[in-house]
Amino acid sequence: MDRFQGYSAFVTGGAQGIGAAVVRRLLGEGARIVVADVDEGAAHKAFGDVSGVRVVRCDVGDADSVAAAVAYAGEEFGRLDVLVNNAFAPDRAEDTDDEWREQFDVTLLGAVRCARAAMPLLAAAGGRGAIVNIGSVNAEAYFGNHAYSAAKAGLASFTRTLAGEAAPLGVRVNQVTPGTIATRGWESRPEQLAALAERVYPLGRVGKPEDVAAAVAFLASGDAAWVTGTTLRVDGGLLAVNTHFSEVLGEF
Ligand SMILES: NC(=O)c1ccc[n+]([C@@H]2O[C@H](COP(=O)([O-])OP(=O)(O)OC[C@H]3O[C@@H](n4cnc5c(N)ncnc54)[C@H](O)[C@@H]3O)[C@@H](O)[C@H]2O)c1
Repeated sequence: MDRFQGYSAFVTGGAQGIGAAVVRRLLGEGARIVVADVDEGAAHKAFGDVSGVRVVRCDVGDADSVAAAVAYAGEEFGRLDVLVNNAFAPDRAEDTDDEWREQFDVTLLGAVRCARAAMPLLAAAGGRGAIVNIGSVNAEAYFGNHAYSAAKAGLASFTRTLAGEAAPLGVRVNQVTPGTIATRGWESRPEQLAALAERVYPLGRVGKPEDVAAAVAFLASGDAAWVTGTTLRVDGGLLAVNTHFSEVLGEF
């Protein structure tokens, strides 16, 4: 497929994990990409030599950093068609007010800042402008992590309200909602991943970054031209199927 020929995209947290898979997917379909990550070294290591990719240091928790990185994308490629808000604040304590604020500042406000900075460019993209936010199943049920879950629930709401505001500008806004995806946060817990695959996930495995990237590519592409304000779960059936209930009935 060549759905992103002539497109340019901005992917936050694109140095590794889901973000890197999104970069590879969009690049493979013809896009030019700005990888915007706070870990510039990791981004350079992953994509520094790749044709069609530019790396820029960007901390989504800092409005000036976001504005500069988005401006760089516009200058470098002369346009911006797709924004993928993927960066988040991992492994934060969440006991104090300040810790909650830090989580919200990166995971929710980070996406707000990027959308605000990118909107003029996306609106100028001739109807191709699209934002895809990366949410989480944590926004919809309890899987631990109160502040992270609340920030992701806020992001789901922002997806809908921004979709309304951006529609008259010809910009679509959608969200992908992943379940457990085997990225570095899970590297130290292989036994738990195996148990989740066996006992919790209806489709019998946890997710790969590429599973999420495929959904992002769909929502960012012209194939989703009449889709906005929606959420696409990529969770192996986690939220739809109660495996514990079925287990008790002997059906799982
Ligand atoms: N892995 C999962 O199980 C899972 C499940 C549900 C949702 N998600 C969501 O998917 C997204 C990516 O998760 P992942 O597992 O690939 O993460 P990851 O830790 O593998 O990668 C995250 C990337 O974001 C970058 N980053 C962190 N803070 C940043 C900041 N302030 N500004 C810019 N970049 C920053 C990191 O440097 C890193 O490159 C997140 O939004 C996460 O909430 C992940």
